[in-house]
Amino acid sequence: MIDIKTSILITEEQIQKKVQELAQIFNKKFENKKLIAIGVLKGSFSFYSDLIRSLSCQVLCDFCATSSYGQKVQPSKEVKLTMDTYLNISGQHILLVEDIVDRGLTLNFLQSHFKNRNPLSLTTVSLIAKPDSIRQKNCQIDYVGFEVKQSSFLVGYGLDYQEQFRHLPYIAEINSGLN
Ligand code: IMP
Ligand code: MG
Repeated sequence: MIDIKTSILITEEQIQKKVQELAQIFNKKFENKKLIAIGVLKGSFSFYSDLIRSLSCQVLCDFCATSSYGQKVQPSKEVKLTMDTYLNISGQHILLVEDIVDRGLTLNFLQSHFKNRNPLSLTTVSLIAKPDSIRQKNCQIDYVGFEVKQSSFLVGYGLDYQEQFRHLPYIAEINSGLN
């Protein structure tokens, strides 16, 4: 078994506080409105489920999935949609919920994908954003939970390394032991 060393970067308490702050913003923004919250699988599942449970507007849940990292730390440049949403999003307020934005390719791809379906509005939120300098393509992240300074690989709270660590309630940085 590989010995992967991690250290906590964002604690469970910090995450939960941030989720509540974001939920308050969205509760004002979408007050008396119907919202379709789209979670990007698999990484956003923890953030998504905590966030939507704190929303007080009318919420419909949907999901999509992309692939780019596969089983590696070094992602490919091509983003593929591996699962599309189920609901018709045309004419609806959409909140796209991402776990982490690194190069911005995934978010950029998803934004064009969903904009083509003519939603009434498209708002993007990512729990984490890595440093601007490593984003190769412009993408618009309307709301970010945590801007991290380091570009190291992060795991926990939905984020994985080879499908491990998703269950952790905090975000940790991998220090050593990667393939
Ligand atoms: P981007 O297209 O480079 O912005 O990468 C975004 C996607 O890659 C995210 O939705 C994550 O699923 C994954 N990803 C990027 N950085 C990390 C990381 O540090 N840990 C785990 N997954 C990551
Ligand atoms: Mg993701």
